[in-house]
Amino acid sequence: MVKTAVLASGSGSNFENLVLASREERNSKYSIELLIVDKLSAYAVERAERLGIPCYSLNPKVFPNKAEYEKEIVRILSENEIEIVALAGYMRIIAETFLSAYKGKIVNIHPAYLPEFPGKDGIGDAFKAGAEHTGVTIHYVDEGVDTGEIIYQERLKIEKDWDLDKLKEEVHKIEHKIYPMTLEKICQKMREEN
Ligand code: GRF
Repeated sequence: MVKTAVLASGSGSNFENLVLASREERNSKYSIELLIVDKLSAYAVERAERLGIPCYSLNPKVFPNKAEYEKEIVRILSENEIEIVALAGYMRIIAETFLSAYKGKIVNIHPAYLPEFPGKDGIGDAFKAGAEHTGVTIHYVDEGVDTGEIIYQERLKIEKDWDLDKLKEEVHKIEHKIYPMTLEKICQKMREEN
């Protein structure tokens, strides 16, 4: 199994779902080894405890700069022999130190159909724009904001009577379906290439 780490800043529903999906899959190609959060108050921390997944909380403010903060992330990942990183609601831009250490091995899930509605609030932005469709995108992470190579996308029609909460719910449903599925495929490919 490909040793995988998840990075999150918030609720962690995608993190939990990735763990459960891999545990339920008979022949899962990935295993979630650890969670890293950038704030202890993230609800993802409680989920990790419940799931028995080791959780590292790193406060970026206690590091002299971003490079040092990312060095510590890379140290934790290397120490645990992590091969791939799945971002799941991690609200920071990944910089050079981290990117170069895990080149082509960091994936992100974005709650819109990129390149439409990049940035922090993909769901809210699609809703406010009155878009007829939105979606979910899984992509590799590069130095830009939600600009990396797209791996998989799914469209979602926004029905006229949906409020923002309903849209969030429907987006999350798609996320929870496609993130484990896509990670399985990526990890299978990684093993075939090795
Ligand atoms: C998801 O909508 C994901 O697409 C975005 O952040 C949200 C995280 O949700 N990047 P959760 O913390 O996994 O519930």
